[in-house]
Amino acid sequence: MGENGTVWLPEAASTLAPAVDSLFYFVYWISVFIFFGVVSAMGYFILLYRRRTPQDKPKRFHVSQVMEMTWVVIPTILCLIVFTWGFQTYVKIYTAPPDAYKIQVRGQQWAWEFEYPNGKKTINEFNVPVDRPVQLTMSSSDVLHSFFVPAFRVKMDVLPNRYTSVWFEATRVDSFDVFCTEFCGTAHSGMIGKVVVQPEAEFTTWVNTSDDMSPAERGQQLYTQLNCVVCHSNDGTEGPPFVGPTFQGLFGRQRPLADGSTVEADENYIRESILQPTAKVAQGFPPAMPPFGTLDAAQVDALIAYIQSLAQ
Ligand code: CUA
Repeated sequence: MGENGTVWLPEAASTLAPAVDSLFYFVYWISVFIFFGVVSAMGYFILLYRRRTPQDKPKRFHVSQVMEMTWVVIPTILCLIVFTWGFQTYVKIYTAPPDAYKIQVRGQQWAWEFEYPNGKKTINEFNVPVDRPVQLTMSSSDVLHSFFVPAFRVKMDVLPNRYTSVWFEATRVDSFDVFCTEFCGTAHSGMIGKVVVQPEAEFTTWVNTSDDMSPAERGQQLYTQLNCVVCHSNDGTEGPPFVGPTFQGLFGRQRPLADGSTVEADENYIRESILQPTAKVAQGFPPAMPPFGTLDAAQVDALIAYIQSLAQ
């Protein structure tokens, strides 16, 4: 992660960023200038025109036409500059170049799915080529989400009933944060992704490498991606820092439960423990796991296959 942001703006890593940033700083410095101008004039006039004696009465004052025109004309010109500049930048941001590389994006509670033209799919993390326009066509499987890459200065709502789109051209090989910026339910704050910018050749290799993984291998990948690894070891270790039971040797065993009963750790038990973790709590462990109800059937299958592969 690059950390080259300023107090006001995050690091800039797309061709759109300079236009957004210079407009921001233009408005910022104008505001600073006007703020200090108004406050110091006010202070000066408070002193200059203070009431010195009880008999003190202000003289009659004639409105100056020049003064009136000045404070009408200058702010009007400033507003028109900001409008014109902003409109040009807006058109630039919302008009993708026709040759842009296209990626499909789907938001769902609470993950981002990316699909490439050749069918390759990724979850939460996606790769793009550097120095090449990329267009994202986005939709949602459930509620409103919003796709935001601060470093690229692009942000757009992701809706369930229509397509929206953003485009960007990354200027630096690095990885950058992706956020959901529309409150979309319990784990909204966890709907975080990553965009990895790669050199063109490296990207081409990556996108054409199909993940011909077995279900168990895909399960192992999910085990890391979904952070199961934080609570469940895969090498037989139990106890701190692992809160939950290990996955090694779990499958097929008789599992004592907190209520004193016993259950066989088969496919159905593991599936239930993923989707409704508190239904059958393993003896000696806290009921600390959140439900993973958003996983699709294939992902649950893959996790079961992975746990099965650790059976011996
Ligand atoms: Cu999706 Cu917030």
